[in-house]
Amino acid sequence: MAENGRVWQTNTLVHTYLTGVRGAIPHANEQIEVMLRLIRAAGVPVNRFLDLGCGDGILGRAILQQYPQAQGVFVDFSEPMLAAARERLGDEGDTAVILADYGEPGWTEKLDGPFDVVVSGYSIHHQPDARKREIYAEIYDLLRPGGVFINVEHVASADAWVESVFQDLFVDRLYAYQQANGSTMSREEVDRTFYSRPDKVANILAPVEEQCRWLRAIGFAHVDCYLKIFELAVFGGVKVGD
Ligand SMILES: C[S@@+](CC[C@H](N)C(=O)[O-])C[C@H]1O[C@@H](n2cnc3c(N)ncnc32)[C@H](O)[C@@H]1O
Repeated sequence: MAENGRVWQTNTLVHTYLTGVRGAIPHANEQIEVMLRLIRAAGVPVNRFLDLGCGDGILGRAILQQYPQAQGVFVDFSEPMLAAARERLGDEGDTAVILADYGEPGWTEKLDGPFDVVVSGYSIHHQPDARKREIYAEIYDLLRPGGVFINVEHVASADAWVESVFQDLFVDRLYAYQQANGSTMSREEVDRTFYSRPDKVANILAPVEEQCRWLRAIGFAHVDCYLKIFELAVFGGVKVGD
C-alpha cells in the first residue's frame, strides 16, 4: 500500500492528515505567501493554473483567492482527497477536479493544457527520483511560456543529525496543534505516532539542491530554493518566453 504513495488513497490517512497534520506544518502560511509572491513576480496573467497532488486543494484555493477569475484544475489520485477538495471548493470559481495518477506516463493527456501556473504541495516526493525528473519535464511542457512552477515540498535532510532536529521541531508543532484542538495525547505519544506514521515509508526524499539542478537542466529559469526550513522547501522556476 505504501508503493508510490498509494497509502494516500485510504480514508484514514486522509482524515489524519487533513485534521491533525496539515495545520501543524511549520511556516505553512509563509510557504503560501512566498508561492503567491513568486506567481505575482512572474508577471504572467493567471488565467489557468494546475494544483498537482492537490489534497484538499489548499494551495490552489490560495491562488483562487488572489485570482478569482482564473480557472483552477485540481489533480489527485486519491478519491477521499478529491472529495475533500470538492467540499472545500464548493461552488467557488471555475474549477475542475480530476482523478489522475501522475506517476503513470500519459497522465497529462487527461488535462487540457497549457497552464500559466503549476503548483504542487508535499506530493511529488512519493515518486522515485528518475520519475520526479520526468514529472518536472512534463510540468515544463504543460506550462505556457512565461509560466511558473512552484513546488512546496518535503526534501531530504543533509544528514541524520539535521533530520533529527527537523523531526523534533515537527513533533513540537504537532503536539502544540493537537493540544490546541483538544487532544489529550502526551508529547511522547505524539512522537511515537509520528515515527510510526503510515505515510513515512512512502517518502522518497531528494535534496533540494539536486532537484534545482534537474529543473535547470530541463530549461527552467530563475530556479532557486526560495524558502526552506529543514526538510520543508519552496522551490521552482519559470519557463521563459520563446
Ligand atoms: C501530503 S498530501 C499533500 C496535499 C496538498 N497538496 C497539501 O499541500 O496539503 C499528498 C497528496 O499527493 C497525492 N498524491 C500522491 N501521489 C500521487 C500521484 N501519483 N498522483 C496524484 N496524486 C498523488 C496524495 O493523494 C495526497 O493528496
